[in-house]
Amino acid sequence: MCVDVGGLYFKSFLEILMVKVMKKGKKTESIPSREIDKTMYSVEPHYEDTAPSKKLTKPLTSISPPGAEPMMPGSFKNPKNNNDKLKQLDDFRSDPLGESLRTNQGVKISDNQNSLKAGLRGSTLLEDFILREKITHFDHERIPERVVHARGAGAHGYFQVYKPLASYTKAEFLQDPHVRTPVFVRFSTVQGSRGSADTVRDIRGWATKFYTKEGNFDLVGNNTPIFFIQDAIKFPDFVHAVKPEPHNEIPQGQSAHDTFWDYISLQPETLHNVMWAMSDRGIPRSYSMMEGFGIHTYKLINAEGRCHFVRFHWKPVYGVASLLWDEAQLLAGRDPDFHRRELWESIEAGDYPEYELGLQIIPEEDEDNFDFDILDPTKLIPESLVPVHLVGKMVLNRNPDSYFNETEQVAFCPGNIVSGIDFSDDPLLQGRLFSYIDTQISRLGGANFHEIPINRPVCPFHNHQRDGMHRISISGAANYEPNSINNNWPRETPPAGGVFSSYPQLTTGEKIRKRSGTFIDYYSHPRLFWLSQTKVEQNHIIGGFSFELGKVVRPWIRERVVDQLTYIDHNLAQAVAENLGIELSHEQLRHPLPGPVNGISKDRSLSIYDGHSQVLKSRRVAILAADGVCEKSLAIIMKSLHDQSIHTMIFSPHIGKLRTLQGTELNINGTIEGNPSVLVDAVIVPDGKQSIDTLLKDGNAKYYLLQAFKHLKVIGLQGEAQRIYDAIPLPAADEGMITGNAALELAADFIEAMKLHRVWSREMIAGQIPA
Ligand code: HEM
Repeated sequence: MCVDVGGLYFKSFLEILMVKVMKKGKKTESIPSREIDKTMYSVEPHYEDTAPSKKLTKPLTSISPPGAEPMMPGSFKNPKNNNDKLKQLDDFRSDPLGESLRTNQGVKISDNQNSLKAGLRGSTLLEDFILREKITHFDHERIPERVVHARGAGAHGYFQVYKPLASYTKAEFLQDPHVRTPVFVRFSTVQGSRGSADTVRDIRGWATKFYTKEGNFDLVGNNTPIFFIQDAIKFPDFVHAVKPEPHNEIPQGQSAHDTFWDYISLQPETLHNVMWAMSDRGIPRSYSMMEGFGIHTYKLINAEGRCHFVRFHWKPVYGVASLLWDEAQLLAGRDPDFHRRELWESIEAGDYPEYELGLQIIPEEDEDNFDFDILDPTKLIPESLVPVHLVGKMVLNRNPDSYFNETEQVAFCPGNIVSGIDFSDDPLLQGRLFSYIDTQISRLGGANFHEIPINRPVCPFHNHQRDGMHRISISGAANYEPNSINNNWPRETPPAGGVFSSYPQLTTGEKIRKRSGTFIDYYSHPRLFWLSQTKVEQNHIIGGFSFELGKVVRPWIRERVVDQLTYIDHNLAQAVAENLGIELSHEQLRHPLPGPVNGISKDRSLSIYDGHSQVLKSRRVAILAADGVCEKSLAIIMKSLHDQSIHTMIFSPHIGKLRTLQGTELNINGTIEGNPSVLVDAVIVPDGKQSIDTLLKDGNAKYYLLQAFKHLKVIGLQGEAQRIYDAIPLPAADEGMITGNAALELAADFIEAMKLHRVWSREMIAGQIPA
């Protein structure tokens, strides 16, 4: 049964979606048919073209939906999204098209296939400088990965303030709403090595470099508003504990192991951030759908010298959403690049990730108005207590050209600040100010990494620092100050706007190695977080703890962690204990619980799903179809989804072309087997008897729907496709199972259901699904 809704949609479908239709008899235009040139595969030099067409070597510059075409470097793909930083980088780009292959000394190379030998079968000659140079350079391609946050993905963009913030800060980039400040952002995981999977349960790093006209400002934060420890002296201990175990370097990219939980059980200041990591925040849906936080309290200083404390927030315009734990684990195998691919493809597709910058501002005199210390980075400031003011927007609109040159070599440091912003005495922040540059000296090979193109400020920078490894800039005779040889240039600038001067904070005190008494409350904030979650989210937290502790081999570590949970919430502790086969004593279940934080026991901003609306733009829907699919239905469904800026991808038992019931050939985006349901947000199967008959015989297609159901995804089955439901062992249909004959109505209901992100009501029965 294929429901006819008239030719109108069919025509617009072809026009609007620009699906390449190849009618019978017409040849494809992209690759000219020609005799295969056998010399292409030879060990002789290649002096000829090897691309089937010169056209194909020209990067395509149009917007392209996910998976539609080869991924092109950002400078080709988004040349219009330019800014001062990208123009500066242009000076360092090289385009090899039409150029000769040469050595690094500029000598043209005639043979890149064979080394220089004494006779055809003789030994290789040491004098072969071409071979030696090539191999030597290759031998030194690797640099040390970051000690933490080694796995990351970056993007260029800009930041624009909504209105002048002069009353709070003299920072130049926060004044003029017409000015777009270039930014480079790097998102990362914390624990895993460079090649680890994106979707592991972990905190996500979120580092933003603002290339302001007054110097670089780096906001180096995470996707949680708090950190695990209060004092930087504990950072090496914490990182050693969370990294793979020292004896066998297992596990990779995961905190589910003994050393991590041993440390947690003995250092209760970590519990608040652990609660966040065990929650859905530890497995974000994408980098564009997570919140970011500067964490520490910083200072804003205005032109009159007045100081306000501030905490920085990033609020994603695409809303906040997370994966399910089972899905995140499967993704780690099926697409370990899930997050970085999504970031890249979103920018290629024109779905530029956008985030609003938010400020929680506290007048200096209100510093002591809280139940906690605002210098303590394990405590958040509830938004219902101090609202977040949205002051500007960041848009990420251009991919890097070279992962290594930009994303790997970028060097962030919380110590990079500009006039109008200053540090607080947060002891974790103070330690960070030292650590980053210190590590970068060894990671990036010396003291001159600020000269690497991605790290250069867009404003001029001159001083008397000299020499060192890889010095690039060449400067004049006087390398000291004061000097008269160069008329004392470069000179100091008298204090004024744009010149950095530290806030004259009064500082007194004994030298002391001690934690402030105002930091000693470890349980009230984790409890506030717990009480602010929906039931569904609370169950996920219980699941997170149970899974991780289930991997801990030493029973006393499991018991100590559960004991710690009894000080946060008895139900939480009891539920985790049951899953771990631990019996809690009456005494443990009578442990006193902390009271509200400044009278607040629940804050909606801490929950992802508590009534917050979901944004559909950039979401992905799989369309399962085989030959014989009803083209009209397909057209209507795709148009409806595209109207909501949702991406669709046709997956079929085979790759290549799909022949519809009406005889048209459509491009297939991939096979069902190669593009499992974990890659998409929802799945829909359009009508068409022959197509459904094929899918019913295909184990991958049936498994696809089974797994999508288990992962609480909305599923649409149109017309004949409803037969699939009877063929797979699924429980009764629910609000996320959209069935019907008319494509238009089905698509409308499908879209409505997608607004919940997931079919939460299904979660209790999803565990029964054998997928
Ligand atoms: C609020 C607490 C912290 C946050 C939010 C944080 C965040 C980050 C982020 C986002 C990165 C990755 C930067 C990039 O993408 O290149 C990073 C790297 C790093 N962090 Fe932290 N971090 C924190 C605490 C610390 C502390 C206390 C230390 C040491 C005392 C530290 C040392 C490092 C080091 C050594 C790197 C590697 C930097 C590089 O190689 O470029 N972090 N951190």
